[in-house]
Amino acid sequence: MTRRRGTALILVPLGLSLSACRGVQTMLDPAADQARDIDVIWRVMLVVCGVMYVLVLGFLAWALWRARRKPLDDAPLTGGTAADPGLTRGLTGWIALIVAGLVLLTTVSFLVDRSLAEVGPDPLKIKVTAHQWWWQVDYQGQAPSETFTTANELHLPLGRPAIVELQAGDVIHSFWVPNLSGKTDLIPGRTNYLPLTPRRVGVFRGQCAEFCGFQHAQMAFDVYVDPPDTFEAWRKHQIASASDPANFEETAGKQVFISKACVMCHRIQGTDAGGTVGPDLTHLKSRAHIAAGTLLNTRGDLQAWVADPQGIKPGTAMPRVGLTSDELNAVTAYLETLK
Ligand code: CUA
Repeated sequence: MTRRRGTALILVPLGLSLSACRGVQTMLDPAADQARDIDVIWRVMLVVCGVMYVLVLGFLAWALWRARRKPLDDAPLTGGTAADPGLTRGLTGWIALIVAGLVLLTTVSFLVDRSLAEVGPDPLKIKVTAHQWWWQVDYQGQAPSETFTTANELHLPLGRPAIVELQAGDVIHSFWVPNLSGKTDLIPGRTNYLPLTPRRVGVFRGQCAEFCGFQHAQMAFDVYVDPPDTFEAWRKHQIASASDPANFEETAGKQVFISKACVMCHRIQGTDAGGTVGPDLTHLKSRAHIAAGTLLNTRGDLQAWVADPQGIKPGTAMPRVGLTSDELNAVTAYLETLK
């Protein structure tokens, strides 16, 4: 092997492992108080367990080295007796080290657990309901007019504590945004709460972390941590009703939407569509992805999804609605107006 290849063999895995520490879906790049606490406990565990591992391997190597120096047919390998003061001191020190390591781990774990359960003052209240296989997100305002629903996307203002109320509509799911906090299960018939205090502006990726059926892997969501004024602008926009279609094709598309099966499951605020089985589409085009992270929210992907959801995400609750190509074009044009 040439020296350059040897260097590459060392540097490439090292670079890959270091680059894995940065990203939109990693607990090694914390962006909230809760993830930072979990990062502390992980570093303490790594150091304590790493030191113990190195010590155990060191003692093993030393014992093997000693055994090689004393052939078996020589004096028997007793390694000392209980009366040997050196051995007693060594064992006492070893036990003290183990106890100190365990006490440190227990203390850090206790303190981190307490701080993870703490909710900051005046928290933003968000209810997340998991469905097979998408996320319903309800922002709960002071008045009913301040309350709105979106899907597969969470927006959080920087620095403000939020409390996420977690429920499940069908089976057990798990809410996990590694950059912000640990996993919390969503269980039918039970409500769990997850406090989040984001500390860095950015876009992060969440993922269902509990096997929940055929499309468990296609159950992702985006989390945006925005400066407070950007969040406020987004919130105001989400509260507003959908704008009316502007041209003939879009108007025809709205008619298709209202007259076909779409209206049974989806809600579009400001129209007659009031279904609650599927995602609220009032501001569909303000989202980056559709079908819970399965597709990009482009016109092409949207049209493909409406045309054949079962082909793209088999088992999803959305059926294939029989549409002519003109109807498909029109309904896609209308959905594109839901900004
Ligand atoms: Cu929902 Cu896995």
